[in-house]
Amino acid sequence: MKRQDEVIAGSSETLRQLNYIENLKKHYIDKASEIGRPLTAHIATFGCQMNARDSEKIAGILEQIGYTMIDSEDADFVVYNTCTVRENANLKVYGRLGYLSKLKKKNPNMMIALCGCMMQEDAVVEKIKKSYRFVDIIFGTHNIFKLAELIQARIESKGMIIDIWEGTKEIVEDLPSERKFKFKAGVNIMYGCNNFCSYCIVPYVRGRERSRDSKDIIKEIKELVADGVVEIMLLGQNVNSYGKTLETPMSFSELLQEIEQIEGLERIRFMTSHPKDLSDSLIEVMKNSKKICNHLHLPVQAGSSRILKIMNRKYTKEQYLELVEKIKAAVPNISLTTDLIVGFPGETEEDFLETLDVVRKVRYTAAYTFIYSKRTGTPAANMEEQVPEEIIKDRFNRLLKEIQKISSELSEPDTGSIQKVLVEEINGQDNSLLTGRLSNNLLVHFKGDPSLIGKIIDVRLDTCKGFYYLGEAIL
Ligand code: SAH
Ligand code: SF4
Ligand code: F3S
Repeated sequence: MKRQDEVIAGSSETLRQLNYIENLKKHYIDKASEIGRPLTAHIATFGCQMNARDSEKIAGILEQIGYTMIDSEDADFVVYNTCTVRENANLKVYGRLGYLSKLKKKNPNMMIALCGCMMQEDAVVEKIKKSYRFVDIIFGTHNIFKLAELIQARIESKGMIIDIWEGTKEIVEDLPSERKFKFKAGVNIMYGCNNFCSYCIVPYVRGRERSRDSKDIIKEIKELVADGVVEIMLLGQNVNSYGKTLETPMSFSELLQEIEQIEGLERIRFMTSHPKDLSDSLIEVMKNSKKICNHLHLPVQAGSSRILKIMNRKYTKEQYLELVEKIKAAVPNISLTTDLIVGFPGETEEDFLETLDVVRKVRYTAAYTFIYSKRTGTPAANMEEQVPEEIIKDRFNRLLKEIQKISSELSEPDTGSIQKVLVEEINGQDNSLLTGRLSNNLLVHFKGDPSLIGKIIDVRLDTCKGFYYLGEAIL
């Protein structure tokens, strides 16, 4: 059974959880000496930035209790932090669980935990209970902070532990967290979503919108900066409605102005902006800011006003285009990116041409294109007129071609210029190269010493490769 709106007192809950962590530490010291090696853990993260951030919280707890994080699933504790936004995300998890069961047979110390958005669906939990008995712990999106308590329960009970909450009003602060990058970090400013776009499952699995207190956000960012972070990404399903649920309401643009003042912080990004709530004051703040990056992700989803209405997006094609013009006028050269869905139920060729028209008018530096996926429980799942697969594929390819053409036209003119980049990592394919991120979110690969990672340096963009550049560091 799911529990409804569990009432938990913020700071006393933190203390309770820290107590579980302390007790488990002792347990794992004994365990490690018993088997003669440190215990290892691995987290596989699916889905969006929200899940990436949640995985850092999970890693924080696991490291505190004594696990060493490793890159392989051949570990003593494996967590799958799942996504369910499209059906293929779910299928991937079931496929990989088969492989995990083989690893578990070989390792008697192994524990498997499943969490994230997929676990908020009753049918999924039923299926795992029935067909994947070897799973040890299942928890959801609202009770990540309880992981140590759940591990303790699993050690004591020997049976599968399932703890899924329908929703929560509380936000538990100040638990450990282990960042993936030393120099950049995601910071949740709100949780959940109230928008109920008709195709989308997120509001059902992430619950109602709740904003974090601005004092907690500022405190977290100051601590991150003191610990070496220069770039933050503020996270929320719709950052533009930040603050509406707070006792003393505060707007997103007011929050940004406070964050701008934090000394030592160099770059601010945020995601995602719903076009219906993007205010003039936000545009003004972006225009005047020295730290907000020259990039805005503004999902349009579709170009046809008729489809947008059925999607429950609450703006028309014309309103979206007007908004884009306002932003471009205030922040010239801004890099705009978007999300697009192809094949929403009832989408006609004329509707699709409207999407192409928006793409041509806005000119996005990049766009994430998705084939519509039917999600049980959402209003769109009951709509008739699902579009045939061949038609969707054809539209998808035409859209991709147009996006690619425009994005390389947009990045070409910057060739030869010198830009500030945040050096992020050693290039995955060629380890003599480093990869850096421009303010506009595009990447550049260049030769350099790994000691540059985490620094903001000048790089000349020598060759444009469409979505990215090859360049040279100017030191
Ligand atoms: N809150 C964000 C994005 C959340 S999900 C926003 O509103 O923009 C990320 C993207 O997944 C969405 O923007 C949408 O393009 C896509 N998406 C969501 N549900 C989908 C579905 N049922 N089928 C295909 N794509 C979907
Ligand atoms: Fe989904 Fe819409 Fe909420 Fe984004 S705003 S998470 S697309 S319901
Ligand atoms: Fe997926 Fe959940 Fe994000 S469904 S896209 S991981 S909010």
